[in-house]
Amino acid sequence: MTEIRMRVNGVVHSLDVEPWVSLLDALRERLGLTGPKKGCDQGACGACTVLADGVRINACLALAVQYADKEITTIEGLAQGGELHPVQQAFIRHDGFQCGYCTSGQICSAVAMLAEHAAGMPSVVSGSAARAELTDAEIRERMSGNLCRCGAYNGILDAIREVATP
Ligand code: FES
Ligand code: FES
Repeated sequence: MTEIRMRVNGVVHSLDVEPWVSLLDALRERLGLTGPKKGCDQGACGACTVLADGVRINACLALAVQYADKEITTIEGLAQGGELHPVQQAFIRHDGFQCGYCTSGQICSAVAMLAEHAAGMPSVVSGSAARAELTDAEIRERMSGNLCRCGAYNGILDAIREVATP
């Protein structure tokens, strides 16, 4: 066992974890944060997406011990002062989900993606362009790590587009 301190959604936790425990299992099974979902457990679906110091990661591929002393944000930590995050509100307005299994990952990913774009990070679609317009093709490409088995992609795209271009 290794003792780690991890700040999750603004609260510091001390955890005893085996070195092989994933961040996803630590969040879900040790801290009871079941928003991040286990879809594939191998980095293929994005259902487990959380933010580590504001950067989106697949929690199923991360070891909890690697993230000691990082600021982790899950879907449970996005709302502020009783108000849902604007991306959460937009997903509701645009029906960006059906069963909801992928939704927490989609929303966390979208929050980080918008920050990446605002910071000028290029994508495969934009190539070397520092601040390409956030077209539908750009949004699709930048969200391509998050799969939705229900096919709610149109609503997801509409929600993200609305937040990106209010
Ligand atoms: S559960 Fe992590 S990417 Fe699918
Ligand atoms: S809403 Fe069901 S998997 Fe996306």
